[in-house]
Amino acid sequence: MDKIAILDYGSQYTHLIATRIRRLGVYSEILDPTATKEQLSVYKGIILSGGPASVYEKDAPSVDPEIFKLGIPILGICYGHQLMTHILGGKVEPGKGVGAEFGKAEILIKKPAGIFADFLTGMKTQVWMSHGDKVTKLPAGFEILASSDDDEYSAVGDISRNFYGIQFHTEVKHSTKGEQILLNFLKICNARRDWDLKNFIDSEVEKIRTQVGDKKVFLMISGGVDSTVAFVLLNKALGPNRVYGLFVDTGFMRENERVEVETSLREIGVDNLHVYDATEEFYTALEGIAEPEKKREIIGRVFLEVQKKVSSDLKLDPENWLLAQGTIYPDTIESGGTKNSSKIKTHHNRVPEIEKLIAEGKIIEPLKDLYKDEVREVGQKLGLHPRMVWRHPFPGPGLAVRILCAAESDLPENSAQLDHDINTFLLTKNSHLKAQTLPIKSVGVQGDFRTYRHPVLLSGPADWSELGALSPAITNKFDQINRVLYLITDDITPTFSPASLTKQRSASLRMADKIAMDWLREIDEYKNVWQMPVVLIPINGDAIVLRPIVSEEAMTANFAQLPMEKVKELAAKIMASGQISAVMYDVTNKPPATIEWE
Ligand code: XMP
Repeated sequence: MDKIAILDYGSQYTHLIATRIRRLGVYSEILDPTATKEQLSVYKGIILSGGPASVYEKDAPSVDPEIFKLGIPILGICYGHQLMTHILGGKVEPGKGVGAEFGKAEILIKKPAGIFADFLTGMKTQVWMSHGDKVTKLPAGFEILASSDDDEYSAVGDISRNFYGIQFHTEVKHSTKGEQILLNFLKICNARRDWDLKNFIDSEVEKIRTQVGDKKVFLMISGGVDSTVAFVLLNKALGPNRVYGLFVDTGFMRENERVEVETSLREIGVDNLHVYDATEEFYTALEGIAEPEKKREIIGRVFLEVQKKVSSDLKLDPENWLLAQGTIYPDTIESGGTKNSSKIKTHHNRVPEIEKLIAEGKIIEPLKDLYKDEVREVGQKLGLHPRMVWRHPFPGPGLAVRILCAAESDLPENSAQLDHDINTFLLTKNSHLKAQTLPIKSVGVQGDFRTYRHPVLLSGPADWSELGALSPAITNKFDQINRVLYLITDDITPTFSPASLTKQRSASLRMADKIAMDWLREIDEYKNVWQMPVVLIPINGDAIVLRPIVSEEAMTANFAQLPMEKVKELAAKIMASGQISAVMYDVTNKPPATIEWE
């Protein structure tokens, strides 16, 4: 089988490159940049990924320069482009910091050759940029293939040696011709396109059997798509007697979650699901905890404690049992899962104790190389009903990471000045919306790094296109802000209310989430919106934030623009419960805000 190697410099998008290549039918593998020339010599092509480092920094990750003598086509993307330039004798310099080119840009094709073989000179195409540094001088043998307004060297190549460098990310869907560019690269590599997910299932079944040997497997099922598909795949590989599936009710589940999972499994003849109510364990462990990372760590730990408790109650001999998890690719990468990436969030499957078990070979993760869409396809091939497979993703920690907690107000010291500056800025954009910074924080991701910053609330009459333009303008200009909200209900003066993780707040959120999800099913029939977290924030009592997003793989996302009149109707329904102070709509893309708030 022909393979493409992707050297991982820690970009949030590295695994997206791998998926795209696989979707184009060529098996791809992600390797550490320390891979040797000999290891790399068996690949048909090499891609150098993006990453958060700068090539001229001390200890910046590099690559064996000998790989440029292998005669294998090489494509450098973002950091990879800069690294190739640097190694081959060109020059890279700091840009104007994060935001130098960040988000959508346009490139103009100057030479339709190599990776642009079927493009036309003078043609413009939209690409996705996310970089600070840039190439300022080309190595010998290279020429410009395409330029953007801000970067002459957006795409370059040495066509005789088949080396290409691009500053933008072909792998994200915002680069409209990204797939074509990758396909052209595969053609240059002469790679056969014969890999698909059916092969994945067959080879994974074999791998599971080999890794598990004559042992058995214990899997915790969170109610989401991933762990359910993992469960079915393990059942296929090992048979029901060697798989113990445990549905853990954390007390942070959605309305009806458990029944829905049980029904979907029973429909395909899987009936070895066990249920454990861990509500008390989770609430006790999370009492008084507000910091998102701390919450995530505790949740991961309690999951393990529950697993240990149930295993010991069942008298399972640890020597004969492996622990399985439904981890998928983005979970590992966004936890800082590869050596060069920066930590955005600790996924509940990646807390330190789990890492230790992984190192000891005691964890099995059959889906860890797949993206959500691929997991869904595998689920469907395994017979799961499309209704289950196409459910919105629901994070393992559940509603716990959608209930913001804080003991005290967290307004920036300069909040009066900040609000003044944002309001003045809005006026320069001809907007008469009112901006108020909120006294809470949420997690974001910018330039491959985690941020923990304030949301700003906009109020007044507006439409989505105005909000869609203002939101990135605000987060690009004000570095204390990583999220922009729009107030759907009546005007408020936002004040902070001390709040912790209680069953009562959880019930309020479950109620609002149910109303919102039923509403979404009706108006969108789950067609466009990829996920819609509903978040509880401690503002004027408790307010609700709706976070509908459109996304391909959860690595990037745009806020979904749902019909405003309908959104107002939904807000009124939520307010009618009398438990909620206001309804807001998150109008931030990812980046700069993550999909979940914590
Ligand atoms: P973020 O918030 O990082 O989310 O943009 C990306 C996707 O991952 C889901 N998510 C999780 N899923 N355990 C999970 O099973 C987790 O700890 C977790 N954290 C985030 C999130 O819902 C979104 O689809």
